[in-house]
Amino acid sequence: MINKERIMDKTHVSEVLYFTEITSTNTYLKDYGKVNSDKKHVLVVADSQTKGRGRLHKSFYSPDSGLYFSLLYRFPLSIQKLQLITITAAVAVAKTLKDLYRLDVKIKWLNDIYLNQRKLCGILTEGVLSQGNHYDFIVLGIGINVKTPQRIPEELEGIFAALDEEINNFDKETFLIHFINNFDQYMNNLERYQENIISTYKDLCFILNKNIRILNSDKLLFAYDINSEGHLLTKDEDNKVHQLNSGEVSIIYED
Ligand code: BTN
Repeated sequence: MINKERIMDKTHVSEVLYFTEITSTNTYLKDYGKVNSDKKHVLVVADSQTKGRGRLHKSFYSPDSGLYFSLLYRFPLSIQKLQLITITAAVAVAKTLKDLYRLDVKIKWLNDIYLNQRKLCGILTEGVLSQGNHYDFIVLGIGINVKTPQRIPEELEGIFAALDEEINNFDKETFLIHFINNFDQYMNNLERYQENIISTYKDLCFILNKNIRILNSDKLLFAYDINSEGHLLTKDEDNKVHQLNSGEVSIIYED
């Protein structure tokens, strides 16, 4: 259960929709946002998802041992800035876990939060287009593994982490309230915070200054920087620069 009033009381969220089970909080909120064009700052929370989605059309395992939520922000955003929203959300997740539970997490570019070298949390930011090259509204979706489930699917063995490995006092509402306030503070002053956000993100990003490979390519790349738009800058063995966009690539971390 979620105490909707407490969340609305302590954040700028104006509506909270809660489900024990849903297909995907992102899919639901995108549809909701299209029909309810007057609604701003809506939060959808679910205990489990039957069709949880990740980046690059991957599925996101969403049993009832996790926290899955999506937030709707209605303001014009240029398409180029979408990655920056994911970066901002990743920094806000890390800050919230540190502030509340003294927990240190790492980030795998672009949208994965890691604990104990395994994936704890995924972020999926989606924009719904209006005319021109601006989004009408965006939906920020976050899934966090709270408890280790009885059975971890074979394909996630060795790469799945949950908060209960380190803490046993996680409270969904408290996390949501702090995360939303941290994220909103950045979003309301994005210009001012941008440099700081990118630099914190780089400090936490464990693939920086490492060799990486891209899925379905045998090229070895050295990841050396992240630019102000959130692109990963890499160099190949001939020193040629490749600017990677998260919409196109999946990173395999080498060392
Ligand atoms: C990824 O791992 O590539 C991103 C995963 C994002 C999962 C969250 S859970 C809440 C929201 N609803 C979804 O279907 N996806 C996001």
